[in-house]
Amino acid sequence: MNNSASIVIIDKEDNSRNIIKNYVRNIPETYIDRDFEDSFEAYTHVVEHRTNIIIVDISEDPDVTFELINKITSINKQAKIIVTSYNSDADLVIKAMRIGAREFLTKPIKEEEIQEAVIKMRDLSLGNLSDSNHCKIISTFSNKGGIGKTATAVNLALELANITKEKVALIDLNLQLGDVTTFLDLTPSFDISYVVNNIHRVDETFLLSTLEQYKDTSLYVLADPPFLEQAEDITSDQISKLFDALKKTFSYIVVDTGSNFDGKTITVLDNSDLILLVTIVNLPAIRNCQRCLELFERLGYTKDKVKIVLNRYMENEEIKTEDVEDVLDRKIYWKIPNNYFTIMSAINKGIPVGLVNPDSNISRNYRDLAAMLSDSIVSTKPTRKQQRTNNFNILGIFKK
Ligand SMILES: Nc1ncnc2c1ncn2[C@@H]1O[C@H](COP(=O)(O)OP(=O)(O)OP(=O)(O)O)[C@@H](O)[C@H]1O
Ligand SMILES: [Mg+2]
Repeated sequence: MNNSASIVIIDKEDNSRNIIKNYVRNIPETYIDRDFEDSFEAYTHVVEHRTNIIIVDISEDPDVTFELINKITSINKQAKIIVTSYNSDADLVIKAMRIGAREFLTKPIKEEEIQEAVIKMRDLSLGNLSDSNHCKIISTFSNKGGIGKTATAVNLALELANITKEKVALIDLNLQLGDVTTFLDLTPSFDISYVVNNIHRVDETFLLSTLEQYKDTSLYVLADPPFLEQAEDITSDQISKLFDALKKTFSYIVVDTGSNFDGKTITVLDNSDLILLVTIVNLPAIRNCQRCLELFERLGYTKDKVKIVLNRYMENEEIKTEDVEDVLDRKIYWKIPNNYFTIMSAINKGIPVGLVNPDSNISRNYRDLAAMLSDSIVSTKPTRKQQRTNNFNILGIFKK
């Protein structure tokens, strides 16, 4: 069975185990080795047999199961863990990710989802796919200025690099008013203009020596051009080619954008796997966000591609999260707390918030966002914890 990946299923529910067995039994180059009701019994087996893929349910007793997974992965480092659970609360997903789960599937399990996850784990196990053989492009956007696009892009990119240890590119495509380099206090030797004009020479060596490595991390920064006329010369086509080139070297590309809906920005958004639409909780910003969503719909972007991030979020806002969701007809994906002091201190020092105060609420929040967006997690639907606390409803304001 050397050329096959072994699968062990651990789930207390008989029915669930049977369903999973049924879904994964015919995946080529894999075989179901055993299934267990009891996770402690499974532990000895998967460690002794160096199981390749472990599908483990954490619905019942997450903490105990996490401890067990932790033990397994510390001994059998090659084991690829797929976690299943009825609860897909963001905290739980993040915890799973931190202890080394590669995939998180919400129950009831969908056939295609688990097959896709097992195939990916199989390819990783058998060496058909390197861990960095994928690239996810995430851009931060808002059609309003000063809303937190750059703060989100910079801190997210660094945390993605810290968490995944994979190569992350942070690209400043706010071509006229870029300030990524200010946020990170960098004076790069090269910029986007140079790279797009040398696109025929671009390979991994070129990129890693042209983009500015941030300290000793795996984050590489590509700055906006210093002169406005250079920015104007960059075409949409060049931007697309730039992405194609970057994808071969980096696992994640985080793009900071400007607030204009021009052709270049649309090219960036078209090329993105994920758009973090950043807004704050006030009426003008939400109205703008609504317009953005309308445009995105016309551009054919799916709901999965566009995720709404509430920046500068404060508990007890007059406008409740649920009201914003009602107006936008979308779930809020993430809330970044308002922490002016830490953000300003970071910007003024030219360092990410994680270096100013790693324990602050905002540093933890960016880390958690990075964990959620890293490729290890699928089917992430953070559940809402907050309850509606008053009856103020902005829906009325938006009705004409
Ligand atoms: N979570 C936060 N808490 C408190 N203040 C914040 C937060 N995020 C951003 N800010 C503040 O908002 C300002 C604008 O942030 P940022 O530069 O990231 O916005 P932007 O959308 O990129 O702006 P521009 O449109 O000019 O590019 C920052 O200087 C900072 O003072
Ligand atoms: Mg900005």
